[in-house]
Amino acid sequence: MTKRPAARSKNKEKLNVLLVGGGGREHALAWKMSRSPSLGTLYATHTDNPGIAAHAKPTDCPYELGNWDRLKRFCDREAIDLVVVGPEADLARGIGDALRTKDRAVLGPDADGARLESSKSWAKQLMRAASIPTAEGRVFRTAESAIEYIESRTEPVVVKASGLAAGKGVIVCDTNEQATAAVRRIMHERAFGAAGDEVIVEERLSGAEVSILALTDGRSVYVLDTCQDHKRLLDGGEGPNTGGMGAYSPAPVLSDQQLAEVHRLVLIPAIDALRRDDIDFRGVLYAGLMLTHGGPKVLEFNVRFGDPECQTLLPRMKCDLVDVLRATATGRLEEATIGWDPRVSVCVVLASEGYPDKPITGRPITGLAEAQGLNDVHVFHAGVRRSAGGGYETAGGRVLNVVALGDTLDEARAKADEACDMIRFEGMQRRHDIGAAAIAGRRA
Ligand code: AMP
Ligand code: GLY
Repeated sequence: MTKRPAARSKNKEKLNVLLVGGGGREHALAWKMSRSPSLGTLYATHTDNPGIAAHAKPTDCPYELGNWDRLKRFCDREAIDLVVVGPEADLARGIGDALRTKDRAVLGPDADGARLESSKSWAKQLMRAASIPTAEGRVFRTAESAIEYIESRTEPVVVKASGLAAGKGVIVCDTNEQATAAVRRIMHERAFGAAGDEVIVEERLSGAEVSILALTDGRSVYVLDTCQDHKRLLDGGEGPNTGGMGAYSPAPVLSDQQLAEVHRLVLIPAIDALRRDDIDFRGVLYAGLMLTHGGPKVLEFNVRFGDPECQTLLPRMKCDLVDVLRATATGRLEEATIGWDPRVSVCVVLASEGYPDKPITGRPITGLAEAQGLNDVHVFHAGVRRSAGGGYETAGGRVLNVVALGDTLDEARAKADEACDMIRFEGMQRRHDIGAAAIAGRRA
């Protein structure tokens, strides 16, 4: 048994938490956990993000992806009870395996469970074995065999690098020429490195997209309220794919009946299939779905909170988040109590000039305090850092996430827009139509 420092045993209910990750999703998690009655001390690996630093103490060791020894020693020393992991890359590189002990829970699967996201070919096999509805697809290890298959087809396809490619490894094609070029880019030019050792060529589906996020302790599943991401850069669903330009919740695109269907046909079979493979999956299971004429079909699984879905969901969640995440990570999800604010939340992403290809950073940001001062508005820091003069400047592609709550979608969006108008940095890109597609029935 690990020896516990005296300070901790004074109040057994309070948990020391380490938060891993440095974007807007993690700022939202830090904010929500800092309001949890169950929180002891919150530490974070990425306190260079000023939003996270406002709620968490820094770890005393430099963070390096895949080098978990120092972080493990830190967790032992500070009696960390719960590690909350934001990004998929850390999970795929085994942070769960390294930090989980009998006394320390980790929100997020081990590397074996993380394959659901880090290997699209593995996920495809699991879906097939569990009869989970998904696009028909085939996995190829050579460009030649993939191209031969593409040339034998008449319907449009989607070409995907199997491994992690920061959300960029999916190429939706209109023609076979485009699909062939995509395979060459992934496998010959190695545009996504080793993530392209295998490609998946799958049927191109159509329909509205929705994200279903669920907490699971490896047996029980709790489905969070619905939300919808907006992946394209520009209004009207135009422009290149991005990590996500905004989200809103709840999303009326899914009926209660469809939600029950997703629970029964997707989430439960996925958890059962993982368990059959001896994988104890404790964390967030995220299914990216397309609502086709033939019913909901899985486009992808993720093994963590979506970004910016998390930022739009957490302000609506009524719960002691530390307690809920601990219950999830320790196999006692059924003990968790979660309620939902009935209001609508809208999250607008403010992105840098040049995003998603070549974001320009180092631009001064103004108006943050004014925007944050509005009622029912949260401004989460994604790619933001302190500037030499003590202000804030842009430090990444997606810079800020402005979330507003309102009684209706229009009201929430108007409030988010009001807050966004107060924030300035040169070259800012944003969408003005978050949630509008759901009502108009077009692509988000
Ligand atoms: P993924 O990372 O797999 O979710 O793919 C990124 C985006 O590509 C999705 O949000 C969809 O817009 C699109 N996509 C992925 N797979 C398909 C498919 N089989 N058919 C049509 N669009 C797809
Ligand atoms: N917003 C999409 C994702 O987090 O994968």
